[in-house]
Amino acid sequence: MKAFIVDRYKKKGALRFGEMPEPEPGDNDVLVEIHAAGVNMLDSKIRDGEFKLILPYRLPLILGNDVAGVVVRVGRKVRRLKPGDEVYARPHQDRIGAFAELIAMNEADVALKPKNLTMEEAASIPLVGLTAWQVLVERARLKKGQKVLIHAGSGGVGTFAIQLAKHLGATVATTTSSVNVDLVKSLGADVVIDYKKQDFEKVLSGYDVVLNSLGTDTLERSLTVLKAGGQLISISGPPDVAFAKENRSNWFLQQVMRLLSFGISRKARRAGISYSFLFMRANGEQLGLITSLIESGIIRPVMDRVFPFEATNDALAYIETGRSKGKVVVKVR
Ligand SMILES: NC(=O)c1ccc[n+]([C@@H]2O[C@H](COP(=O)([O-])OP(=O)(O)OC[C@H]3O[C@@H](n4cnc5c(N)ncnc54)[C@H](OP(=O)(O)O)[C@@H]3O)[C@@H](O)[C@H]2O)c1
Repeated sequence: MKAFIVDRYKKKGALRFGEMPEPEPGDNDVLVEIHAAGVNMLDSKIRDGEFKLILPYRLPLILGNDVAGVVVRVGRKVRRLKPGDEVYARPHQDRIGAFAELIAMNEADVALKPKNLTMEEAASIPLVGLTAWQVLVERARLKKGQKVLIHAGSGGVGTFAIQLAKHLGATVATTTSSVNVDLVKSLGADVVIDYKKQDFEKVLSGYDVVLNSLGTDTLERSLTVLKAGGQLISISGPPDVAFAKENRSNWFLQQVMRLLSFGISRKARRAGISYSFLFMRANGEQLGLITSLIESGIIRPVMDRVFPFEATNDALAYIETGRSKGKVVVKVR
């Protein structure tokens, strides 16, 4: 089958468009004919070798962390899905490979695709949707009446997270630039900070939760926005020791991550705030709940551009500008 492949890690290195063997589904797997694949910063970071220690893949590796398609075959223990089902997923981190014609995934990682979405729209959802879910619902336990700051509201994670936080009944503040103010308002943001004109930490205070997806400077400034007892949850680092343990990293890596997050954890603790890093996981059950929210019109996909399969390297270059609004997807068939 045709696929986009990492032969060796290289910063900004182009993926090779070549032939790879078709995956063979195991007993608990579904084999999915891929129609569309979402493009994520994670793809670029894996290609660049930034995740070598956390995700030690064997090369050559088919890249791609978001998929929508049709089940063509199922393993003998699969009960929930059948050939012909339209599905979507963020495959398990050890079994990625969405930039290809076929992928085998554990049934537990897969959900039925929202009926009201095209394949391209569906492929835009899993990774960012699960990230927002795992930050806001699972970890923060965000409740009605609470206040949350979602950084980079116009990005892939942000556009989903704003809508989810509004659905949970929170007051939502977000940061973006002038060109995207209308977009984030249309998603439900209550307070919009244009980061080019205002410092968010001078405007916001008494927040319960901050979802950080930006750099260290934003992370540190976010502390002053939170009230005592608040939660600073970062998806862009630094990783902490709890994550290292969850990821079954060895003792040495655990100490590295303890060190990397030492500064922000200490500053947070002194302010009575908890700091944690979250790395999203595949989860078909949560994705099924997301399907319901999309089918009932509570959450909609925000699409920036769809690239043809052959232009997957261009799609990666496009998201690497850091300026995309919502999601970028490649149409595989
Ligand atoms: N840990 C995890 O599990 C996990 C999961 C998903 C993503 N991530 C990480 O989270 C980060 C964000 O991911 P994403 O997919 O949402 O990114 P994205 O879609 O590429 O984000 C692009 C958006 O960020 C906005 N932006 C850039 N600089 C900004 C700033 N200083 N303040 C406010 N907005 C800014 C841009 O808006 P303007 O053009 O208006 O600036 C643009 O719309 C990435 O580093 C990604 O790797 C981690």
